Amino acid sequence: MSDIEEPDLHEVARKLFSGPIAFLKSAPSLQFLPDPDASEVAFAGRSNVGKSSLLNALTNRRDLARTSNTPGRTQELNFFDVGDPLRFRLVDMPGYGFAKAPKDVARKWRYLVNDYLRGRQALKRALVLVDSRHGIKDIDREVMTMLDEAAVSYHLVLTKADKNKASDLAQIEAETAREALKRPAAHPEVLATSSETGLGIERLRGAVLEAVL
Ligand code: GTP
Ligand code: MG
Repeated sequence: MSDIEEPDLHEVARKLFSGPIAFLKSAPSLQFLPDPDASEVAFAGRSNVGKSSLLNALTNRRDLARTSNTPGRTQELNFFDVGDPLRFRLVDMPGYGFAKAPKDVARKWRYLVNDYLRGRQALKRALVLVDSRHGIKDIDREVMTMLDEAAVSYHLVLTKADKNKASDLAQIEAETAREALKRPAAHPEVLATSSETGLGIERLRGAVLEAVL
């Protein structure tokens, strides 16, 4: 599949994401990870940034991944199989930086996410989600630095773009892209998305597919 031309990529992505997609399993700790028999793309980002919602938008399913108004909804690594036969996996993860989580719980999530991101051979790309109203925070930079040091390729994705004024969004996009360019493992392109309106979702599908080809 690696010889797919650009226009075909979106068509293949469209078919794959409208075809069979199924929840595989939840891993509360690393010993429960599935066998690494498919490439993985994982959703990382601060608590409540919109990881689970974006996974649902990407797969065009409402409730595949559970979402919530309150931070701390996703508490395990959740694996979803895309394609039948299996083509790749999407991984929804707990968020970081949730101030109200009990300290030991926050630490457990942090270790789980960091160990997975740093050590998983099957992980082809991390999507690092950033709220488009706030831009990159120091806690995101810590994760980005960890990914840079572990040479894990990642793509910065702005979320909730529908909540932002167009001019503010353009400014945050430019600032985020400037930071991405300085990062060795970051994809130079920043994707602005909205799970509500569908903005940027098709491009994100293409980017995910590109990462696993
Ligand atoms: P945790 O699992 O707790 O880390 O959160 P998460 O990053 O998975 O966020 P989740 O998808 O649960 O969304 C958090 C809240 O943001 C929910 O109330 C969503 O409805 C809302 N939300 C997510 N994406 C968007 C978006 O694109 N636009 C708008 N307006 N709201 C969104
Ligand atoms: Mg979630």
